[in-house]
Amino acid sequence: MADLKVDFCGLTFKNPMVVASLEPTNSPDLIKQCFDAGAAGAIVKTLTDIEDMARLTENSKYCIMNDEGEIIHGKVPRDFVFYSRSGYSSTYYKDWIPYLKECQAYAAERGAHLIGSAGARDIDGWVDICRTIEDCGLPMVELNFGCPHPAMMPGVHGGSMIGQEPEVAAAVTRAVTEAVKIPVMVKLTPDQARPVEVARAVMAAGAAAVTATNRYTGFAIDIETGTPRIGGPAGIGGTWTKPLSLRWVHRLHQDLGVPISGSNGIFDHRDAVEFIMAGAGIVQIGSVLMIKGIKWLPKVVKGLERFMDEHGYADIPSMHAIASNRAAKTYSDQFSRARTHVAVDQAACKNPSCTVCIQMCFYEALSQGDGKIEVHPDACIGCELCLDVCPFGAIAMRPTGEAEYAEGYFSIPDGVFEKNKFTTTRNNPDSIGKQSPKKRATA
Ligand SMILES: Cc1cc2nc3c(=O)[nH]c(=O)nc-3n(C[C@H](O)[C@H](O)[C@H](O)COP(=O)(O)O)c2cc1C
Ligand code: SF4
Ligand code: SF4
Repeated sequence: MADLKVDFCGLTFKNPMVVASLEPTNSPDLIKQCFDAGAAGAIVKTLTDIEDMARLTENSKYCIMNDEGEIIHGKVPRDFVFYSRSGYSSTYYKDWIPYLKECQAYAAERGAHLIGSAGARDIDGWVDICRTIEDCGLPMVELNFGCPHPAMMPGVHGGSMIGQEPEVAAAVTRAVTEAVKIPVMVKLTPDQARPVEVARAVMAAGAAAVTATNRYTGFAIDIETGTPRIGGPAGIGGTWTKPLSLRWVHRLHQDLGVPISGSNGIFDHRDAVEFIMAGAGIVQIGSVLMIKGIKWLPKVVKGLERFMDEHGYADIPSMHAIASNRAAKTYSDQFSRARTHVAVDQAACKNPSCTVCIQMCFYEALSQGDGKIEVHPDACIGCELCLDVCPFGAIAMRPTGEAEYAEGYFSIPDGVFEKNKFTTTRNNPDSIGKQSPKKRATA
């Protein structure tokens, strides 16, 4: 059976799944439920001294949409869109003290970790909240530089506003890391172009890890009424954000090689695997526990174990960052990779009644010959679009080797701009239509 243990920032997590800071960690009872469900860690809903952020949580609004932008009534599918607004914990951080101690003890009894989360008004606040978390015995704290909502809170400078400014983020991080001994993890915002620069700055300021990432800020509209959903801009997430989050996990791993906590886009164990393969050490799970219940968590942990067993991964380190390490580092790296070209299985192909691949080949490499698809290998650049759109699995890719090049298969000419690109019309609808026996018969 696969070993799910993972070492992260000096702590051993019994599996990589940590409940993110959000409503399922907003009370001692809920936190305990997370640990009972097998969470290796749980991050307390952000503790704060900002009244407006506490008040916002008392005004939370949630909207779960499908991929058509319609409200989902009933079972939530994998491709959900979670559009919602909530603030930080509405229990004052000092009032959390006995509960943090109690939940920390509860976590420790189960071989798990309770992690703090802070979001403060000013530097003194950041330091005091983090000291409080440390004094309660929690072994790690996350600085929430990613919350989308302070940006719309007049007079509040916090969350993603800090996470967009490397100097400010570094200053807060430095003040906290000088004040506490426990590892400090910084939660980044994806609402910006420079997460890697922010990560570099906070790591230089003493952070032990970064979380990539909090949610995006969105704006969703009910087109029937012409009104914004839930009143206006709000945080937005769902599995559709996963490739965007993974992009930053990958870049942070590739460029900085820092410990990364993956977040933003988890539904089930397959998403957790992607985060780990991109370079995350631990993986945070959030929204899906709000819409499926905390009981969803054991399924994810079990699923991860099953996946690893089925795929022969003995432990988490053997999966860690494997996809990131295999990725092209630059596009010139991509250019130097071996080319491929298309091969059509004429027995499986439904041409002439199907012409999908001809229409979708933007390189004029396919045409309709004598009642069957003709491939023009001198034009096929190996882009794989036809492979993806063929409804009948009739297309395969083959490596282009020296023998094929000798026969004139496509290779990028030295004078790439000199070739006339607009010579043929093989995928012009008229041209396809004229060659189609069916259409000819009805013309
Ligand atoms: C309703 C809601 C409340 C959240 N509150 C917090 C919070 O208080 N602190 C924080 O750091 N992140 C907060 N988040 C962000 C989550 O911790 C998590 O990073 C994000 O939802 C992406 O992960 P997911 O795709 O698993 O939901 C919140 C997210 C949601 C949906
Ligand atoms: S899409 Fe597939 S089935 Fe259709 S014509 Fe192309 S190869 Fe044949
Ligand atoms: S691989 Fe790309 S270029 Fe080649 S035939 Fe298919 S769509 Fe055209």
